[in-house]
Amino acid sequence: MSQRNYPDLHEHIKELRAANLLIEINDPINKDTEMHPLVRWQFRGGIAEADRKAFLFTNIIDSLGRKYDLPVVVGALATNPEIYRIGLGCELDEVGETWGRAISNPVKPCLIKDAPCHEIISTGNDLVGVGCGLDALPIPISTPGFDCAPYLTATNCITKDPITGIQNMGTYRAGLKASDRLAVRMVVRPGGAEGYVHWKKWKERKKPMPCAIVVGCPPAVNFMSPQKLQMGIDEIDIAGGLVGGPINITKCKTIDLNVPAESELVVEGLISTEYVEPEAPFGESAGYVALESYNMTMQVTAITRRRNAVIPSIISQVTPSESSVIKRLAYEPLFLNHLKNNLGINGVIKVSLHEPLTNLRKIVFVQMEREAPSTEIWRALYGCAALQSGVGKFIIAINDDIDPENGDAVFWAMGYRCNPAIDCHILDNRSHGQGPRVPRSVSEDSALLIDATMKGPLPPLALPKKEYMENALGLWERLGLPSLKPESPWHGYTLGDWSDNWDQAAKRAADGHYLKNGEITKQRITTNSLPETPIRSDESD
Ligand SMILES: Cc1cc2nc3c(=O)[nH]c(=O)nc-3n(C[C@H](O)[C@H](O)[C@H](O)COP(=O)(O)O)c2cc1C
Repeated sequence: MSQRNYPDLHEHIKELRAANLLIEINDPINKDTEMHPLVRWQFRGGIAEADRKAFLFTNIIDSLGRKYDLPVVVGALATNPEIYRIGLGCELDEVGETWGRAISNPVKPCLIKDAPCHEIISTGNDLVGVGCGLDALPIPISTPGFDCAPYLTATNCITKDPITGIQNMGTYRAGLKASDRLAVRMVVRPGGAEGYVHWKKWKERKKPMPCAIVVGCPPAVNFMSPQKLQMGIDEIDIAGGLVGGPINITKCKTIDLNVPAESELVVEGLISTEYVEPEAPFGESAGYVALESYNMTMQVTAITRRRNAVIPSIISQVTPSESSVIKRLAYEPLFLNHLKNNLGINGVIKVSLHEPLTNLRKIVFVQMEREAPSTEIWRALYGCAALQSGVGKFIIAINDDIDPENGDAVFWAMGYRCNPAIDCHILDNRSHGQGPRVPRSVSEDSALLIDATMKGPLPPLALPKKEYMENALGLWERLGLPSLKPESPWHGYTLGDWSDNWDQAAKRAADGHYLKNGEITKQRITTNSLPETPIRSDESD
């Protein structure tokens, strides 16, 4: 086997175990009713993001009482950023830079013959009948009570442009229909799935579209599939850029496509370009259940796998979820890179896609340096709106002291730093993007851009200065009071409108000399003003 400088899924799971980021469940777990609801509690049970873990299930049963040989791992790719960065092989603060470097420095893959993903090959009659083919795999039901079937969530669906011959890889859900048939859903709206663009080209040629669904592969390769790249770029080259060397690939057994050699399991097949089949209901990452619609139908021609394959399953639907973490860590650097490097905007610090419940696409924050001129702020707002058609229904510019993950702080900025009549622009002709349509929906949606940055100096934030709060924290702890989780902002700081005179007066007061301040202001008692007449502190200088 050819050498590689990236971990496969087995090695990644070992690393998670060593880092105490893996929970191993050896009790029997029903994949149809228990598995995803159990892991869901990590996201709905008040567990902090950093404390979330991957779950490895080794004793899987189903609602018919059947047992499965292969283990399932849920959350092993991106339950939290730490798990993701281990898979990527870099430090957390290097994730954005690693993506930027990979996109500018793609590495062509290396084609090998003897691939681990071909240790077991099932074709023809092996795939047909209850308990065979797909029906032999422990594929969980994600949203029991609403989903109509188990579906493959952690997919890397590989298709090829029949004109250029360039492959694409995307994460698209693939629902089980029979032991040898799947329904695949590729988003058709503009800016949707590149696989759908391929499908239309195969349809024009009146040929079915070959598709290889890779389930489980080296994490760096898997991170490519939800990433939104320009059309016509082969994700496997960028995966090479991510790991700084070629990814091993191998030819499929029954179709003309290449797949990552260290894949756990590959479903090869042909997607009809003539027929479509009812697909869903399935819970979706917009947070609603996607209702039944016609989608692609795929006839399986082979299932190939490693002997000891482990099946990954991504937990998606209502956010936060593994699906939103995997996308957030890939998309935020894309947006920042676009604003900084493509548009050359000065003063942009960070782009933040709001995650809980809204799923990244609807609410976007652009954090700007305090000195950034309003022309740059508006370029950043419009630049964010332009990059992806479905992203940015509400785009809000904030300063560096506002934590975009703190909704209260964002409302505070909107409340005190934004005049809606001047600081809001409405954009028409926007794509609806993801999520259900309500009866009021017209064919297009709109977006609201908000400049909630400071428009000039403001007085200090009215909390005790940092030194006093830190001192009091020590006191709090010495007194054995209940433990604290400091919330930003937890100390006062200046915002431009403050002077040395006021600073000295505050210092005198804190040092016990407020009477001195009284003596100073006594010199300025006047008959010339009415109550509430402001005094600039330097007027007495
Ligand atoms: C768990 C998960 C499930 C997804 N399901 C779908 C899906 O069913 N259909 C789809 O078009 N995109 C889906 N996506 C989003 C795509 O993977 C994403 O838009 C990606 O950029 C598509 O790649 P492409 O641009 O090469 O088509 C999903 C993403 C994740 C993380």
